[in-house]
Amino acid sequence: MYNRIVRNVPAMRNPFRYGEVVRGDRFGGRERERQELMADILNGQNVVVISPRRFGKTSLVLEVLADIADSVPSAYVDLLRVPSVEHLPSALATEFARLLSPGDRMIDRVRRLFDDLALRPKFGVDEAGRPTVEFEPGASAADIGLTLDGLFQLPGRIAERRKTRVAVVFDEFQSVVDLDTGLPARMRAIFQLQADVAHVFLGSRRHVIERLFTGENEPMFRMAKVFPLGPIPADEFGPFIHGRFVSTKSPISAEAVERILSITGGHPHDTQELCYFTWAETSANGIYPIPPTAVDRALDRVLDAENARYGALWDRLAVSQRSLLVALSRESDAGVYEAKFRRRHRLGEPTSVARAAGRLVDLEVIAPVPGPGAVYRIVDTFLPAWLRRLMAPMGDR
Ligand SMILES: Nc1ncnc2c1ncn2[C@@H]1O[C@H](COP(=O)(O)OP(=O)(O)OP(=O)(O)O)[C@@H](O)[C@H]1O
Ligand SMILES: [Mg+2]
Repeated sequence: MYNRIVRNVPAMRNPFRYGEVVRGDRFGGRERERQELMADILNGQNVVVISPRRFGKTSLVLEVLADIADSVPSAYVDLLRVPSVEHLPSALATEFARLLSPGDRMIDRVRRLFDDLALRPKFGVDEAGRPTVEFEPGASAADIGLTLDGLFQLPGRIAERRKTRVAVVFDEFQSVVDLDTGLPARMRAIFQLQADVAHVFLGSRRHVIERLFTGENEPMFRMAKVFPLGPIPADEFGPFIHGRFVSTKSPISAEAVERILSITGGHPHDTQELCYFTWAETSANGIYPIPPTAVDRALDRVLDAENARYGALWDRLAVSQRSLLVALSRESDAGVYEAKFRRRHRLGEPTSVARAAGRLVDLEVIAPVPGPGAVYRIVDTFLPAWLRRLMAPMGDR
């Protein structure tokens, strides 16, 4: 069924990418989410997109903003790149200046917009010719607060002036509380009056973000529609993966695609990573269409690549935590306090298992599975395979 083809192909670029934002033909599936988010923004609806790390929040939002760029100007603020609240006014001002129409981006027009702020801005242009706005360091907390209030109002004023909706994205929004615990209340007071501004908040520390937006006593309570982002379903990811392989003249078998998705469960980043290694494995002089065994070899390469990261985690764990983790890598649907499970995996008393589980949950290495019984799963896609490889007898490796 599989033919070995000796090929002399010009060097092709790996069609998969992981670790950075993906756009255009590197972005797959998510058609429903794309339409829904687009409609929300066009309606001026505030949205909070929540998912675990590396599920594709930033990629999705940037794709949607590009789709509607002609009718909705947008600003994008990545709060992870704002080291302290003193840096926030410059970051906001520079991004918000980009909401102006190109005709309004003349320095004197930009200047007028920032005229009535507590702090005096300095204006410039970046390499791409876009306006930049900076504030002098060393301002008092009170002046920074007043300036932030003024800046938070700008998107609303620009929307009014341009007679259009505008979108303002805050990426890594969970960091807002690290900058200043009073910021969410400050934002809410102003954002809730801005009918023509769609605020899009992206966040990955689920408990922090959910508490902020769904806790009754929290300042952002009911401020935004909750938009959970899950894995990419197999019927969307499968054709995308297939298409990417074919686009580089590397046909892949349906079984191999299935194998990839059964390992990753459609986790966007980890699927692209496994695809990347599968493509690299077979591109030199592989067997086509690519068989599932190539995916297994690629998984081994992924584990090699991630070895340092998993090794560092392993080093940090206490013996009881390691034992529980190994047990879960072998058997993931049993209650961890069950006598049989504890005996089979030599886990000791329930109190010690509980302590180990609690610590691993805090470290976000494992997560409780909703439902009856104390069932946990390992969060990281490839960690179970790494643990099984670590525990395999030497001869099996
Ligand atoms: N729609 C998609 N199609 C294919 N791959 C995707 C898609 N979305 C995300 N990915 C993969 O996931 C990786 C992470 O995407 P992205 O940075 O957008 O996620 P994120 O949720 O914003 O991550 P972080 O939590 O680090 O901010 C990308 O590098 C890419 O490999
Ligand atoms: Mg992101």
